[in-house]
Amino acid sequence: MNEHGRKTASSTSLPLTTAEIAHQRANTPGADNVVHLNHAGSSLPTRATLDTQIDHLQSEAMIGGYEAAHKAAGRIEQVYASIASLIGAKRNEIARLEQATAAWNAGFWSLPMQPGQRIITANAAYASNAIAFLRAVERRGVVVDVVGDDEHGQVDVAELARRVDSDVALIALTHIPTNGGLVNPAAAVGAIANEAGIPYILDACQSVGQLDLDVVEIGCDLLSGAGRKYLRGPRGTGFLYVNERILDRLIPDHPDLHAATWTAPSEYMLEPGAKRFESWEFSYANWLGLGAAADQARAIGTDRIEATIYERSESLRRQLCSAGLTLWDLGPRPCGIITATADGLDPTEAKMALRQQGINISVGLPSSTRFDSVNRDVPETMRISVHYTTTEAEISRTVAALSEI
Ligand SMILES: Cc1ncc(COP(=O)(O)O)c(C=O)c1O
Repeated sequence: MNEHGRKTASSTSLPLTTAEIAHQRANTPGADNVVHLNHAGSSLPTRATLDTQIDHLQSEAMIGGYEAAHKAAGRIEQVYASIASLIGAKRNEIARLEQATAAWNAGFWSLPMQPGQRIITANAAYASNAIAFLRAVERRGVVVDVVGDDEHGQVDVAELARRVDSDVALIALTHIPTNGGLVNPAAAVGAIANEAGIPYILDACQSVGQLDLDVVEIGCDLLSGAGRKYLRGPRGTGFLYVNERILDRLIPDHPDLHAATWTAPSEYMLEPGAKRFESWEFSYANWLGLGAAADQARAIGTDRIEATIYERSESLRRQLCSAGLTLWDLGPRPCGIITATADGLDPTEAKMALRQQGINISVGLPSSTRFDSVNRDVPETMRISVHYTTTEAEISRTVAALSEI
């Protein structure tokens, strides 16, 4: 654990070697096709993930969708165990959902909130979560309480602790915001939430697959993740973790016949475990692909992935600074999402100019993190996100290309 309350991989874990990175790139069909620096948007899958999806789609086409799911039942079940093991959870604490926001919403709307109670959150809050807070203000009469930053730019943990009282419905933190490079001290917030007995929901959309996560160490009650980003899974995948200590007390907002059984004309019974947050229909090809991606991350080791991404991101930050760009990143140990502007360069034009050269970046919008963008006056930015497959040659090529636009 570091002094900011987060487990750091760097002290004990070695980054991947050049040979290991070359091996991982050889297993990634797109790696030499584009310079992909948009892992925070959607990463490049491995051959194993892609083949897993294609094989299942072929099975569905050849023998029928329901029959293919029946045939693959054991492997479909195994995906839950893979994801659980990736984040230190138990199998029955994992629900499959089709995106991080659906997972987060399923958890958030199941939490009890009374009129006048507060939702404590922080500047890094993601737009979709903040929109849900505003909806909860309208629908449940709660109040949104945004805790400010400390001197590092992360959520001010001491201030958050001071704001905790018996009128808090929940604490909702975004671990890594969609832009801004920050890693919030999730475990320090977890300690406060647990001490006060307040439900704690963590948006780990950008941190799962990027950081070495352990839900027990973090102390969150709920955690939402996406498949397509740092986990390198398929688009259209996500998951929700719900701690078993509260699971059976949470009632999902719109359970279907998979999440519950219609036991009598005027009765239904919710499924035990996180299954109550799922829907019946789902892309099993995608789910199996996500399992392959989670297995790949476990095989490499998320501690080593974290250390590699950190090393690569620091190199890119150094080179961008040397080239005269402005960085907007926060925190004592920023992550693999680099946020930059260059004088006179429109971020969207830069993105399109780089794409012409086979380099993928994305654009960070103030509306995606409105609390933070208002607080710091953050403009539209270039969001350049690295992964363990990123090479130094790709970084140099990107910085050189940016300097010439
Ligand atoms: C911090 C954060 N949370 C949630 C999301 C939403 O993820 P999804 O599009 O899978 O719902 C994003 C997407 O970029 C994000 O960056």
